[in-house]
Amino acid sequence: MGAQETDSGRAAGSSVNGAPGSGTSGDTGPEGTLRARRAPETGKGERLADWADGRLGLYALAKANMRKVFPDHWSFMLGEICLYSFIVLILTGVYLTLFFEPSGVEVVYHGSYGPLNGIVMTRAYESTLDISFDVRGGLLIRQIHHWAALVFLAGMLVHMMRVFFTGAFRKPREVNWLFGWTLLMLGLITGLTGYSLPDDLLSGTGVRFADGAILSVPVVGTYLSFFLFGGEFPGHDIIPRFFPIHVLLLPGIMLGLVAAHLILVFYHKHTQYPGPGKDQKSVVGMPLLPVYTAKAGGFFFLVFGVLAIMGAVATINPVWAFGPYRPDLVTTGAQPDWYLGFSEGLIRVMPGWEINAFGHTLQLGVFIPFALFPLIMAAIAVYPFVEAWVTGDKREHHVLDRPRNVPTRTALGVAWLTLYAVLLVGGGNDLWATHFHLSINAITWFVRVAVFAGPALAYVLTKRICLGLQRADRDKVLHGRESGTIKMLPHGEYIEVHEPLTPAQRFTLTQHEQAPPYELGPLVDANGVTRRAGPGRRLRARLARALYGPGTRIPKPTAEEYRALTSGDDHHH
Ligand code: HEM
Repeated sequence: MGAQETDSGRAAGSSVNGAPGSGTSGDTGPEGTLRARRAPETGKGERLADWADGRLGLYALAKANMRKVFPDHWSFMLGEICLYSFIVLILTGVYLTLFFEPSGVEVVYHGSYGPLNGIVMTRAYESTLDISFDVRGGLLIRQIHHWAALVFLAGMLVHMMRVFFTGAFRKPREVNWLFGWTLLMLGLITGLTGYSLPDDLLSGTGVRFADGAILSVPVVGTYLSFFLFGGEFPGHDIIPRFFPIHVLLLPGIMLGLVAAHLILVFYHKHTQYPGPGKDQKSVVGMPLLPVYTAKAGGFFFLVFGVLAIMGAVATINPVWAFGPYRPDLVTTGAQPDWYLGFSEGLIRVMPGWEINAFGHTLQLGVFIPFALFPLIMAAIAVYPFVEAWVTGDKREHHVLDRPRNVPTRTALGVAWLTLYAVLLVGGGNDLWATHFHLSINAITWFVRVAVFAGPALAYVLTKRICLGLQRADRDKVLHGRESGTIKMLPHGEYIEVHEPLTPAQRFTLTQHEQAPPYELGPLVDANGVTRRAGPGRRLRARLARALYGPGTRIPKPTAEEYRALTSGDDHHH
């Protein structure tokens, strides 16, 4: 290989351009003689880089992307928490897979945990006890794995709500919203299959719950249950079946989706919060290398470190305390992990309705909540498309909304979170009863009412708070910030001095659009001819008025209003 080809960046660039060796190896001297020039010594690293570049085109890739700009905001860290806890889950999961045996075969325990000595259990449960007591570092890794799962799902929920409240899901990011949403769904199922694996009494109770939900499906429920469990519940097949789903299938799909999700974040570029210099066309932030990479790398270790501390000091899922699963037993205070608590809540607050007809039983008390959950989740998945349809907005949005400026969306998000929280309370009604010495019936009735009243109340309150905040923004722009300094005027009156905002602050508070909502327009034109408006358009206009009509916004101050107020001398209050 000629020295000029390894002439650092330049030669590397030429090979990328498809013209290897186009760099000169010598100069033509004044008399036309060829004068050789000594190629600079190249180090091993450079040669290796050149070798890799010739095959992978890394130079062009790096050149194009190393200076890529990343906007900075603390809330962008939430997606990173998902990413890093997912990596921790994979790392710790691989370790556990080395020792866990997904087997429903029954054995008699003679391991190092004395209290369970001589007890009949499945090999799956026995191997989980072995991991906890006999495998070096096993308990720590098990605990980190479980904590990472809880943080991963919490991270996804909070990250999703950040995206929701700021409108980051709008065009062109709707597909990425769907990728993320699918990750959340798969995350829930991966969690469920994971905590079913140890086959302790708690995990078996969870699987029993899932079986009950499946059995409630009309007509095919029993068939589905037999199909899943390979016969009558619990059988011996469920753990060997859950295992590859939990360690291979779902993580594999999720890994692919995470990659696709991040590629789309990279491709669309990140959204940014409103402020001076931020517009739909430019991105303001730090370069990928070195700033963003250093921060992200450091943050990975921080997340890993925190998870390791949690795993080291906080007991989670002490399976040895529950004992092995037996279908005729149930633990008191049996609770699923937090992210599935709402499903438990749905079932516990539902009256036990049941219809018996033609020799069949329809378990509505289980089936209705079971069917409600996918419907609620589907509504979240399609929200970006519904909002785009209602607003008729076909433009790209790279600058985020301040949640207060879109009160209806914000209120819908808070209502949904309230429903989630109420159902969590319902799911833990026994724990609330025992911890706070309350009647379980009173809690159940409270939750039955709160399931409807809570979200409605949260919706109304949030909307009012948003409107109040919009009003406060308007006042701040026009009259300045309350400084807390009280001044006495010569005639004895006390006033609070208001400090004017900086132009940058005024820009941030007034940059949002207040476009009129979609209207049907006159149904009779100037010539008296009636225009037809189908039910779809009528619905859309009605939704648009409800969601983005006059009652949802406080008119932002105009430049004229501002000038009129600030041109006089008395602009202190
Ligand atoms: C495995 C789970 C997930 C991982 C690893 C992940 C990772 C990330 C990261 C690192 C970002 C850029 C930083 C940020 O905006 O926070 C991001 C952006 C985004 N994520 Fe996720 N995410 C996950 C789940 C979700 C979920 C559940 C949703 C919504 C349903 C979602 C929707 C989005 C959207 C729309 C963006 C673009 C936001 C913007 O540009 O402002 N993601 N994600």
